[in-house]
Parts: sequence; C-alpha cells; structure tokens
Amino acid sequence: MKQFSLKDGQRLTIRTAKHEDASNLINYVKKIGGESDYLTFGENEFEITVEKEEELLESFLISDNKLYIIAEIDGKIVGSLNFSGGSRQRTKHTGEFGVSVEKKYWGLGIGRELINYLIDWAEEGDVIKKINLRVREDNKRAIGLYEKLGFKKEGVISRGFFVNDEYYSFICMGLEL
Ligand SMILES: CC(C)(COP(=O)(O)OP(=O)(O)OC[C@H]1O[C@@H](n2cnc3c(N)ncnc32)[C@H](O)[C@@H]1OP(=O)(O)O)[C@@H](O)C(=O)NCCC(=O)NCCS
Repeated sequence: MKQFSLKDGQRLTIRTAKHEDASNLINYVKKIGGESDYLTFGENEFEITVEKEEELLESFLISDNKLYIIAEIDGKIVGSLNFSGGSRQRTKHTGEFGVSVEKKYWGLGIGRELINYLIDWAEEGDVIKKINLRVREDNKRAIGLYEKLGFKKEGVISRGFFVNDEYYSFICMGLEL
C-alpha cells in the first residue's frame, strides 16, 4: 500500500485489489465505461458476476506476473490499473496493462501514480522486463502521460478500435525495464 498527497491536497491510497473489492470494482468499471470513448468497453458493457470477479482478483493476487491495483480517496475507488504477463515461459517476462481514472479526478496525478506503482512493482519483482500498452491514436492525454513516464511508441495497429461507427488505430507503446 502506498499513500500520496494529490495536487489538490486530497489523500490518495494505492493498493492491490482484494476479493472483497469485487462488487465495488464492478460498479466502478461500469461507470467509467460510460465516461470515455477511449476504453475498450462502454457503459454497462462490462458484464461479470461478483463471484467471477472475485476469482479474477484472486488469480491476480497469487500470480508473480500479474497486478491489479486500485486508487482510493476516502475509501472510494477513483482509479484502477491491471497488468497481465504472459502465461508461458517464453512470454512471462512481458505483459500489457490498462489504466483508468474516474473523470472528475482527471489531471490530479492519479494516472501517473498508478503507472509508477506498476513500474516499481515490476522492478522489485525481477520477473517483468518489458511493459506494453495499446492506446487509441487520438488519446492525447494518455499518450502524453505515457511518454512522460518513459514509454516509447513501437508501432501502429490499424482498425484496432471501433466506436461510434468509426475505426481508429491503436498505437503500441512499451517500456523496457
Ligand atoms: C488517461 C488517464 C488514465 C490519465 O489519468 P489522470 O489521472 O488524468 O492522469 P495524470 O493526472 O496523472 O496525468 C495526466 C498528464 O497528462 C498530461 N496531459 C493532459 N492532457 C494532455 C494533452 N492533451 N496532451 C498531452 N498531455 C496531456 C498532463 O499534463 C499530466 O501530466 P503532468 O502530471 O506532468 O501534469 C485518464 O485520463 C483516463 O482514465 N482516461 C480515460 C481512460 C483511458 O483513456 N485510459 C487509457 C487507455 S490506453
């Protein structure tokens, strides 16, 4: 668990998600899906039972190359990040993450702290040697943040994303540790 003071003075806690967080996390993810067209799912498109979400969180907790963390203010989830490494010997050193912050908390540094937590965890664990991500080509805020944290653009996947009747490319970015 790590604690931070945000730009506006609020206290932020970042910690690994436990199975007791399942129901709050489902509600959080359903909500943020409706707040951004840059995510791979829309509002209420995220259908999972509490039991399945608990199992998923447990699988992250016991794995040495997976991480599911949540950012909280006053006990309320305001952001999350999950990273999954490969399941085979030849790919377990690398993986991809997704990150989100509730819209009303954007710009306070929460996304940055979540990604920094991932990088610290990866460096301390000595299993992960490369962190990857895919981001919609026009997601300037996210790309700007990733670049500030050292991620480099590695390639483009055309038609990776389809929303509101339009195709968008994904930019692949990565950080070697
Ligand atoms: C992307 C996201 C996680 C960032 O979270 P956040 O908490 O707002 O990010 P932070 O406040 O830590 O950092 C934002 C940084 O981007 C920068 N930024 C903001 N708008 C920008 C823009 N248009 N162009 C470039 N950089 C920009 C800010 O300057 C800030 O940098 P700083 O910390 O040096 O001031 C959040 O906006 C989000 O959840 N978006 C919707 C979901 C999403 O896009 N997820 C990523 C999918 S790949």
